[in-house]
Amino acid sequence: MKKFIFVCIISLLAIQLESFPQVKAGDAALGTRKYEDFQKAKFCGASCHVDFYQQWTQAMMSQAYTHHWDEIEYFKLAVPHAEKDPVVAGVKAGCNGCHAPISFLAGDVPPPLPEKMSMANESVNCDVCHTITGFEGDVPYNFNYISQPGKTKYGPRGKGNSPEHQIVKSDFLGTAEFCGTCHNEKSPYDVWVKSTHLEWKEGPYSKEGVKCHNCHMTNAEGITASMGTKYPDARQHLFHGAHDPGKVKGTIELRIYPDIREAEPGEKVKFTIALFNQKTGHKFPTGSVEDRIVWMHVEAVDSKGNIYHLPVDRKGFDGEEYTIGTDVLAYQDMGIALDDPDFKGVQRDGIPLGDRIFRMPYFDPQGRMTIQQWNTKSLGADYRFAPRETKIETCIFNLPYDIATGELKVTAVLNYQKLVKPVADFLNVLAEESEIIKVNEHSTTITILP
Ligand code: HEC
Ligand code: HEC
Ligand code: HEC
Ligand code: HEC
Repeated sequence: MKKFIFVCIISLLAIQLESFPQVKAGDAALGTRKYEDFQKAKFCGASCHVDFYQQWTQAMMSQAYTHHWDEIEYFKLAVPHAEKDPVVAGVKAGCNGCHAPISFLAGDVPPPLPEKMSMANESVNCDVCHTITGFEGDVPYNFNYISQPGKTKYGPRGKGNSPEHQIVKSDFLGTAEFCGTCHNEKSPYDVWVKSTHLEWKEGPYSKEGVKCHNCHMTNAEGITASMGTKYPDARQHLFHGAHDPGKVKGTIELRIYPDIREAEPGEKVKFTIALFNQKTGHKFPTGSVEDRIVWMHVEAVDSKGNIYHLPVDRKGFDGEEYTIGTDVLAYQDMGIALDDPDFKGVQRDGIPLGDRIFRMPYFDPQGRMTIQQWNTKSLGADYRFAPRETKIETCIFNLPYDIATGELKVTAVLNYQKLVKPVADFLNVLAEESEIIKVNEHSTTITILP
């Protein structure tokens, strides 16, 4: 009898749920909307939100689907891989949950190529963000945002008169969790392969109430629509990150100093470098960590202009070999998509041997380093800069007997590349994606005695 009543209650509940259909989120939202449910950014920005529109067109947000490297990675690697390997089959649709949300919600898989100029090219546009009302579950990740497109647009104030749409106040857009729905990602092997929001949450800034918005959507006096009120704190839609060299520059500050100021040829001098992360609210590098490479190069120049490269001293931690420039091959799993099962891989780092690399390596199911975050089964040592962290490195220099006497200048430079150069070259990615950005540098001097 008890069992019967229990079954009845459950069935009643089920009927109830069905009559109030919930808005689906994450993978389940695939194909739950139509393209016509969304406006194009140009519609929002042509005459009303001119400033925000122009800012957005210069941010990666507007190119999340069309950007050359995204197109290559999705169509050349991810889609063919998904068609061959059932474990990763879901990414054929899933990449678009974050990169072309409108196509994902419309169930268009794979979306038309960028050259077709379809709605997919809207990437992450105004109407995607301003119709998100929350997220499903406890942790924002893998596009688990709740999208409710329509005449109602959600914003921070809920004020203002628009001839085009209703404005409803939502605090959700102002939270870091909103950003986290796309800026945290788990691979099909259940590994965190993107964790910008999680890194922020465990770091100092979240405790101080400094959000993503404070650094990427800064407040300034201005209007938010052409006919609108002037506010002292209008949210600038800058979304500047790795593709803005100015944002990356100065992220880490370097100070280098010797243990002795005067030395003779044949002596050992220890140079210590303190590297301080003064700028990021999450780790550096963050986001597409599988692609990024940050490395420190130390060089000494004697009074005759001879140059000596100083390799970094080893610290001896587990997995350190992935944090020192070397000439081994990696990324063999690109061979799956490229139909070359014997693919030998390309150079892992493409930087001077012996330089210190600040990274976290991603490994495929065979334990080889990969840039395919969807094919990531485990992670290596996390040797990135946490927010406000200072790392100490040393380089011991055995002064050669033929070194010139006089001043010896030693410089530490921290460099950054969005995509490891050998991979960029192999896949014909535009040069700007592997351009070297100098994050910072510092020099010191010692005197070489005769
Ligand atoms: C990636 C998501 C995202 C995109 C894309 C986006 N916005 Fe926003 N927008 C936000 C967030 C977040 C806020 C601020 C929310 C807060 O502070 O609570 C905001 C604020 C606004 C505001 C109110 C500003 C204020 O200070 O009152 C307007 C108007 C606006 N956006 C229009 C646009 C338009 C037009 C576009 C397209 C050109 C656009 N947004 C694209 C996320 C986005
Ligand atoms: C205290 C300032 C600060 C805060 C807070 C902050 N960021 Fe950043 N962010 C930066 C700086 C500086 C960079 C440029 C250096 C870099 O690429 O990491 C950056 C870079 C990025 C990048 C580009 C990373 C890449 O390699 O492409 C993304 C994406 C990003 N931030 C998202 C976020 C999100 C999401 C949050 C909130 C969860 C956030 N940021 C919070 C300062 C901040
Ligand atoms: C609907 C998904 C989505 C949401 C929500 C979202 N982003 Fe993004 N964002 C992306 C994607 C996808 C990219 C990468 C574009 C590319 O390079 O292909 C990106 C890129 C960025 C970049 C530029 C990184 C670079 O390489 O220069 C910054 C900064 C950034 N987002 C910050 C934010 C912040 C801050 C928020 C919250 C206010 C936010 N994003 C919300 C999907 C989203
Ligand atoms: C959970 C959301 C999400 C999913 C799913 C996702 N991405 Fe991304 N992707 C992002 C965000 C956010 C960034 C920007 C991070 C950053 O700036 O480092 C990004 C960056 C990239 C970049 C680097 C562009 C650059 O900055 O140089 C490529 C390429 C890319 N994604 C391709 C893919 C492919 C292919 C898939 C599917 C296998 C995929 N992404 C799945 C959110 C996602």
